[in-house]
Amino acid sequence: MGSPFILLNYKTYNQGTGQGAVEIARACRAVSEESGIEIAVAPQLPDIYRVASEVELPIFSQHMDGVGAGSFTGHVFGKCIKEAGAVGTLINHSERRLTLAEIEASLKAAKEFGLRAVICTNNVPTTAAAAALEPDYVAIEPPELIGSGIPVSKADPEVVSGSVEAVAKINSGVKVLCGAGISKGEDLRAALDLGSQGVLLASGIVKAADPKAALEDLIRLV
Ligand code: G3P
Repeated sequence: MGSPFILLNYKTYNQGTGQGAVEIARACRAVSEESGIEIAVAPQLPDIYRVASEVELPIFSQHMDGVGAGSFTGHVFGKCIKEAGAVGTLINHSERRLTLAEIEASLKAAKEFGLRAVICTNNVPTTAAAAALEPDYVAIEPPELIGSGIPVSKADPEVVSGSVEAVAKINSGVKVLCGAGISKGEDLRAALDLGSQGVLLASGIVKAADPKAALEDLIRLV
């Protein structure tokens, strides 16, 4: 398999807010350059432009809506996040769930604006359904393990391998990420050994005392 993809979601953690968003992005950029591994960040929406202006690395939005230009007050417009500097977006994160129709509309809008789309899911059947929509990635994250420090790749390996198998049957062009509790080198290694092509993670890096050191530990067994 090729080099993994690592996507770091800042959520609304204090450490990843404002100037902190830039500092963590700098750490990601440094580790990405040293290792050759693609590391992307998903800061809060108002920080996208700030991070993009100061650090050269792939930036994802934490959410976008399936709306076009016009009368959509309070919505996240794909053109706006793209112009702010994002190259992709999460869709349907378990902390920002959407209806099936909304997922489909967000994905359509992401494609229209040339944004890479990661549809988040919570089990094998929803992963299979998401893959049928043909996003760039699906990210399987059992909600009960999110933020727990217990890695999905060790606590529930079947949900990762089951997702990989289900996606391969539906559309082998869709890449599978996994997430929840991932923070250490052995967690990422186990995720890759189960067939995933990368990880979506948050607290283990964003809340670490030294995010750069935490990232270096994360990739040490790749
Ligand atoms: O989006 C990533 C996420 O939900 C996993 O969070 O803190 O368990 O790495 P965490």
